[in-house]
Amino acid sequence: MLAAIRSAAVVGIDAYDVTVEVDAAPGLPQWLIVGLPVGAVKESRERVGAALVNSGFTLPPRRITVNLAPADVRKEGSSFDLPIALGILVATGQLDPNTVENRIFVGELSLDGAVRNIRGSLSVARHVGRAWPGAVLVVPPANHAEAGRVTNISLAAPVTLRELVLQLRGDDLVIGRLPESSAVPRAYDIDFSDVVGQETAKRALEVAAAGSHNLVLIGPPGAGKTMLARRLPTILPELSEEEALEVIAIHSVAGVLSEDITLGARPFRAPHHSISGAGLIGGGSTPRPGEVSLAHNGVLFLDEMLEFPRSVLDGLRQPLEDATVVIARAAMSVTFPARFTLVGATNPCPCGRAGEPGRKCTCGPAEVAKYAARMSGPLTDRIDMHVPVGAVALRDLSGDAATGDGSSQMRARVGQARCQQRKRYGMLRGVTCNAHVPGRWLDRHTPIENDARTLLHAAASTLELSARSYHRVLKVARTIADLGADEKIEARHVAEALRYRPSARK
Ligand SMILES: Nc1ncnc2c1ncn2[C@@H]1O[C@H](COP(=O)(O)OP(=O)(O)OP(=O)(O)O)[C@@H](O)[C@H]1O
Ligand SMILES: [Mg+2]
Ligand SMILES: [Zn+2]
Repeated sequence: MLAAIRSAAVVGIDAYDVTVEVDAAPGLPQWLIVGLPVGAVKESRERVGAALVNSGFTLPPRRITVNLAPADVRKEGSSFDLPIALGILVATGQLDPNTVENRIFVGELSLDGAVRNIRGSLSVARHVGRAWPGAVLVVPPANHAEAGRVTNISLAAPVTLRELVLQLRGDDLVIGRLPESSAVPRAYDIDFSDVVGQETAKRALEVAAAGSHNLVLIGPPGAGKTMLARRLPTILPELSEEEALEVIAIHSVAGVLSEDITLGARPFRAPHHSISGAGLIGGGSTPRPGEVSLAHNGVLFLDEMLEFPRSVLDGLRQPLEDATVVIARAAMSVTFPARFTLVGATNPCPCGRAGEPGRKCTCGPAEVAKYAARMSGPLTDRIDMHVPVGAVALRDLSGDAATGDGSSQMRARVGQARCQQRKRYGMLRGVTCNAHVPGRWLDRHTPIENDARTLLHAAASTLELSARSYHRVLKVARTIADLGADEKIEARHVAEALRYRPSARK
């Protein structure tokens, strides 16, 4: 008898319908899985066989053929264990085919028949919600909370294969949502009020947060660069529901979903400088998201930025420009979203003291130049804000010197500025903040005072700004105006934006 069980395959962060067909024919006992399966799917055979027997079902000596259709969608991972096991039960007359109709099953099986978590369950749930609204999706219990973010489908999350089959036989599949969780992402235990002084750097971080601009902090060891950068998430607005779903789907597919991310926290990724190009950008024979995609809708923090190999850093150019990463493989090409705010921190030279008043840099000029050249011109150009951070005097650190605004005041201003941007870009698809708006659109549509435009044009020629840099300055100026709730871009906004350009530092 031929059985057909509905399931889904995840490619990138999208899911597709897959039908698991199982045929159990008389003949020499053997097993065959066809339909472009890779790796873990082939190992399914071992897991499913043991799970069936250990759950009290029989595995009759038949010729079993499993076909995963359509054959042109690559299937990887272990999520077909559950539909394959059900298919065998139907094909061998142990389960009535009617009981599995109009239901979609994903799940890995352990040898003892427990239903184990899979990657990408949110992608599957979103696909089912779009293609089959109202359908019943059966997921592993560990994925219940994740899949439950999709509300227009019914979910069942049996603990074991045996429990599922008994429920199906008795026609009482337990459909349930987890109780609405009132949990919220963990509050931050760090705050900008921990920072003494550094008002310029704090201001720059506030501008970066408000418009989602890329920024690099440059200064001597111990100046507080790492401390400042790590506090950026504390002033960023909450993710929208749609943004949170994208983030969860990416982290789930990568197999690194944390509780905070499930609860909707904004990603803050801080990879070490020993990371490989594939680790940063994404890759692998079965393409997996890299740090740039795990930082989607959040912050990618590169501490000791110039310690990253130049070839690795240069990989950032394409995602910074396109907000996506395309990983091409012979069998397929996969696109992952990668829209993040880049924050770098670095010393100005190997010894770290170049440009510090009252301190002596021990590096030769050639050494300093070589160090700076680790960041290519095109990458420098894509970083809107270059912010020098000087060390705060020791006596200020130890005294009870003022610490200025804390994160909550800064976050309030950022939220207000983001609000203006959402209003302005309401009709532009996918644009919610200044950093993401096409430069020409902004140039044409945003009100700007005459002397502000004059200043911008003068600076463009003296600083030899590329067209891209010109637009980037304009965007930062727009954010500065938004932070002050100013309708028009004024000369002082442009002047501040220009101070953050790298060439203005030299
Ligand atoms: N402005 C400041 N206010 C409060 N503490 C500070 C400040 N600046 C530095 N510190 C203290 O100095 C420590 C070192 O700062 P941090 O690690 O951020 O420096 P850094 O600029 O990243 O240095 P490096 O270049 O060596 O990485 C901080 O953990 C903090 O305790
Ligand atoms: Mg540091
Ligand atoms: Zn030096």
